[in-house]
Amino acid sequence: MTTVIAFDVYGTLIDTTGVATYLKELVGDRAEELTRRWRDKQLEYSFRRGLMQNFEDFSVCTRQALDFCCAELGIDLTEENRKLLLESYRTLPAFPDACAALPLLRQSGCHLYAFSNGRADDVLNLLQHAGIDQFFLDIVTTGEIKSFKPNPGVYAHFLRRAKASGHESWLISGNPFDVIGAISAGMRSAWVRRSPDKPFDPWEFQPTATIASLKDLPSVIAPT
Ligand code: LAC
Repeated sequence: MTTVIAFDVYGTLIDTTGVATYLKELVGDRAEELTRRWRDKQLEYSFRRGLMQNFEDFSVCTRQALDFCCAELGIDLTEENRKLLLESYRTLPAFPDACAALPLLRQSGCHLYAFSNGRADDVLNLLQHAGIDQFFLDIVTTGEIKSFKPNPGVYAHFLRRAKASGHESWLISGNPFDVIGAISAGMRSAWVRRSPDKPFDPWEFQPTATIASLKDLPSVIAPT
């Protein structure tokens, strides 16, 4: 049996807070607040569009969330600066532990996939820019079934695409809602808890494993 690993992209392999570097130049010390609000709103829009069955690309959620947060926080950004920020979302940096863990997992025979709300060309661009695209067998996106995480259908879609069953497959994510979505849909899942202050949702689901860094993943996922 081959172990199949689906990696969430934004917030797991790729550091969305990397956008704060650009934002600092534009909005000074409000960069951190705007980065956090923007990411939360982007996800909220994806959840709402999923529930409403009113799908648009994740990039639309990202753009509309930026417009909303600027209006909400009274931040006046020119159209050109908004474009630059959205462009920077296509070249966000990878977390350093991703670069360390992926080759080891690949060498051990696991089948690695990128599994994201993002559009396939955006995800490919990010992985190539970060120099980690060669470790993945494929990119699977939720947009292929016009929905978003954590709709159970997107995890089922992943398993179909990877020709795998839930018990031999892991979802690795820094996003608790994604971990819960995968476990509820019958997969195993490791939560990458990037900050010790970050709580997990107090629901009836627990991650199969909790790790502080992707470097701990090879010891958690013993290939079978
Ligand atoms: C993704 C979002 C959830 O990459 O971060 O799917």
